[in-house]
Amino acid sequence: MTTLGIIGSGNIGTVVAKQAVAAGYDVVLANSRGPESLREKAAELGVRAGTAVEAATAGDIVVVTIPFGRYAELPAEQLAGKVVIDTLNYYPSRDGRIEELDEEQVTTAEVVQRHLKDSRTVKTFNNITAAVHLDSLPRPSGAADRSALPLSGNDAEARATVVELLDKLGWDAVDVGPLTESWRHEPETAVYVDPYLGAGITFEDLVGGAQDAGSPAPAAEIEKLIATAHRPPVRDRQF
Ligand SMILES: NC(=O)c1ccc[n+]([C@@H]2O[C@H](COP(=O)([O-])OP(=O)(O)OC[C@H]3O[C@@H](n4cnc5c(N)ncnc54)[C@H](OP(=O)(O)O)[C@@H]3O)[C@@H](O)[C@H]2O)c1
Repeated sequence: MTTLGIIGSGNIGTVVAKQAVAAGYDVVLANSRGPESLREKAAELGVRAGTAVEAATAGDIVVVTIPFGRYAELPAEQLAGKVVIDTLNYYPSRDGRIEELDEEQVTTAEVVQRHLKDSRTVKTFNNITAAVHLDSLPRPSGAADRSALPLSGNDAEARATVVELLDKLGWDAVDVGPLTESWRHEPETAVYVDPYLGAGITFEDLVGGAQDAGSPAPAAEIEKLIATAHRPPVRDRQF
């Protein structure tokens, strides 16, 4: 059985854990406060609770899904040699302003890869809202209304591993290529949240708490949005 380590038990970590259990993965879930604080949630989800080091050590693949500003706390030593899925987005209001991101010298995903220098990182799950569409849009392989998620990473084999994982969790994938290109699916691009919104629903509605089952965003649509993406000015980001 494949073990999925998940570091971060918030919005994304919880939904991915639930879907991974349903897909037959063994899951070790971690947060910042320690396994004791996860006891109830772990029992509900049918996962094991652990420390971040334990989730990193146990995982054949490890999802890291914590606030971007805390990426340097990720256990690089235990993640060495592994495929690591990075969902992190840069929100200056939460993470503080970071010059090299504001100046677009690097992408957030390159910063995470630089910290996890001996891991093969793949960025995905970052362009969809966890509380609604990440939960509502997965479909079995081959379903006509299946949606796709973009992913990027410097290692082609690691990207293929993540494509396979996404498939098992209910998603098609669009391969964006290396991490220098990952800005194409960062916040404020055309592929960020909007393609998955239900008819008549806006991102602002979601932020306001609107319920939305979403609408399918097939691979062809995601591919087109990635190919025609414009890089948003990170320095102007207001959230
Ligand atoms: N929410 C979304 O819809 C969404 C969509 C796309 C991308 N993202 C990005 O994905 C990441 C996760 O988002 P989220 O909404 O799931 O976050 P969240 O709900 O705020 O949860 C963050 C989790 O990270 C844990 N954490 C923080 N520092 C840690 C550390 N050093 N070691 C282990 N765990 C740590 C927290 O632990 P505690 O529970 O102990 O505090 C918490 O469980 C963020 O970078 C976010 O920008 C989010």
